[in-house]
Amino acid sequence: MQSPIQQNIFADDVRGGLSAAPKFLSSKYFYDDEGSRLFQEIMKLPEYYLTKSEYEILSGQTKEICAAFGAETGEFDLIELGAGDGAKTSLLVDFFLKRQTDFTYVPIDISVEALKCLTEKFAAQFPNLSIQAEQGDYFLTLQTFKSKSARRKIILFLGSNIGNFGKAQAQDFFKSLRAVMNDDDRLFIGFDLQKDPRTIVRAYDDAQGVTAEFNLNLLTRINRELGADFNRAEFSHYASYHPIEGAARSFLLSRRAQTVFVKTLNETFEFAAWEPIFMEISQKYSPEMIEELAHASGFEVAGNFTDDKKFYVNSLWKPI
Ligand SMILES: C[S@@+](CC[C@H](N)C(=O)[O-])C[C@H]1O[C@@H](n2cnc3c(N)ncnc32)[C@H](O)[C@@H]1O
Repeated sequence: MQSPIQQNIFADDVRGGLSAAPKFLSSKYFYDDEGSRLFQEIMKLPEYYLTKSEYEILSGQTKEICAAFGAETGEFDLIELGAGDGAKTSLLVDFFLKRQTDFTYVPIDISVEALKCLTEKFAAQFPNLSIQAEQGDYFLTLQTFKSKSARRKIILFLGSNIGNFGKAQAQDFFKSLRAVMNDDDRLFIGFDLQKDPRTIVRAYDDAQGVTAEFNLNLLTRINRELGADFNRAEFSHYASYHPIEGAARSFLLSRRAQTVFVKTLNETFEFAAWEPIFMEISQKYSPEMIEELAHASGFEVAGNFTDDKKFYVNSLWKPI
């Protein structure tokens, strides 16, 4: 459950999104208890290659990655934005703990449920780990980074989280991060690479319908938390990939003309037949786009780590 302030922001965002043309809902609200559980299911799906590719990179190249962080000696904070279940990060944490490195793990996530699972799991798995979990929106928490500690920062942004930003928004986000980083801090980002569009579309429209359920669950959340009367059966999930933009997008389509009332907002929203609600962008990158993005936001690429199929890259950036 979110705080009253967070609930007000949620309500305002839903009002803004459903009043816009085209309508949209922010994907950061996917992750209530059920959304976090469904995302765990998605990560296990055969079609969802992203988690498998990133796991292959972090498990197969742990030593090289940690060496590239330059963090095996000296104390630092390992800050993770949108940590989720931390399953892949546990590989790095385990590596550093075994070398008795002095670090604190700082997972930040907007989802109360995801953070609760992660902290319980890590406490059991790594009893000696110093951990300072923070619940909140990383756009807001990053403002406190400079004052938080004088220690070196290794910032992780895994899971192709950055794909959920449009290109301009990604650049703005990295510029804001750069502004709170010191020269010896590092940023380690998971990018999903451009590939056969059919492989990409399957990842966002799986045969079992788990991704559809994940999207529809946001309507259930709005019904429960904001007293709305969305009839989920009247909306259907649709995913597509645009090869020129290199972006996958997910939508919920209104199957007929209908009106939805949201009690907390005391407002009704009209939907035309087959009108879309834009739910999520998943931007795919080329190696050149990653280089350009790094330079445009005040970084240089210090190393790239890829999987065998070249589906995915974890890119290490250093401030310039
Ligand atoms: C795609 S999952 C990735 C999870 C994990 N990093 C991984 O690689 O498996 C996105 C995670 O980011 C969190 N998240 C999304 N938007 C956020 C925001 N604005 N602030 C903080 N956390 C956010 C979600 O709750 C979710 O746990």
